[in-house]
Amino acid sequence: MNPTALITGASSGLGYEFAKLYAANGYNLIITARNEEKLQKLKDELNHIEVTIIPKDLSQPGASKELYQHALDKDLTISALVNNAGFGLNGYFDELSLQEQQDMLQVNITALTELTHYFLPSLKKAANQGLPAGILNVASTAAFQPGPKMAVYYASKSYVLSFSEAMAEELKGSNVHVTTLCPGATETNFFKTAKAENSKLTSSTMSPQMVAKAGFEGYMKKQRVIVPGRVNRVSALAAKFVPRSVAARIAQNMNSANS
Ligand SMILES: NC(=O)c1ccc[n+]([C@@H]2O[C@H](COP(=O)([O-])OP(=O)(O)OC[C@H]3O[C@@H](n4cnc5c(N)ncnc54)[C@H](OP(=O)(O)O)[C@@H]3O)[C@@H](O)[C@H]2O)c1
Repeated sequence: MNPTALITGASSGLGYEFAKLYAANGYNLIITARNEEKLQKLKDELNHIEVTIIPKDLSQPGASKELYQHALDKDLTISALVNNAGFGLNGYFDELSLQEQQDMLQVNITALTELTHYFLPSLKKAANQGLPAGILNVASTAAFQPGPKMAVYYASKSYVLSFSEAMAEELKGSNVHVTTLCPGATETNFFKTAKAENSKLTSSTMSPQMVAKAGFEGYMKKQRVIVPGRVNRVSALAAKFVPRSVAARIAQNMNSANS
């Protein structure tokens, strides 16, 4: 029997690429996002495997539980969880809408945490049955330093990295591995959604295909943290050695518009 992967945010960008990669490697899929039409298109493309669509708005409290319940009702068990859904917002904290920033926390942090909690028993069961079982969480190079002008987004990704590394250690010995992907700027809808299309961040980007491939391969090799791209690895390393205030100033500059 094919293993099943649950992929959040599969309607576009990295999630869409992950769906194709897991499918190409023999996984059936549960795919979720808000845009049902795009999910249906993806399902039509992947007609060689079983694909279940569960549309959800993960910014709504309770959505993760409904997603879990839906999978349970359909008797779907998973051996791979890809917590990819997420978004950013560009601007000063007090000038951005509080509601939109709360929605971001709900999607980037709360839903990811809840889905991990709900589906962990299924992952452990799969591991006990000898299936490869794991979690792939999508953080960002934003996780490595504070990010003025995207303060909540950067903080949310620091949470994802910290939580995921802690889970990797807790689950050591359970045969459920946890991989965290920390992409730098990638050519997806991310910058449009974040209203950061003119920011300096967009001056050097990677393709979503390359980033998802690096994440998937790292997941298959059970690596803990993956930073795709040499420039991103250098900047992630540099952030460890400069004072946090300096790193924050550099990030603020990068989050600002090209002049
Ligand atoms: N692109 C980058 O430069 C970059 C860099 C570092 C990290 N990342 C991270 O990579 C992940 C994927 O983003 P992406 O770059 O592929 O951007 P994207 O093309 O905008 O994709 C974001 C995905 O998240 C889903 N999503 C957003 N809000 C949602 C909500 N309220 N409920 C359910 N699903 C929601 C979207 O689906 P719907 O709109 O259909 O709901 C979409 O499928 C995110 O976690 C992002 O933070 C991106």
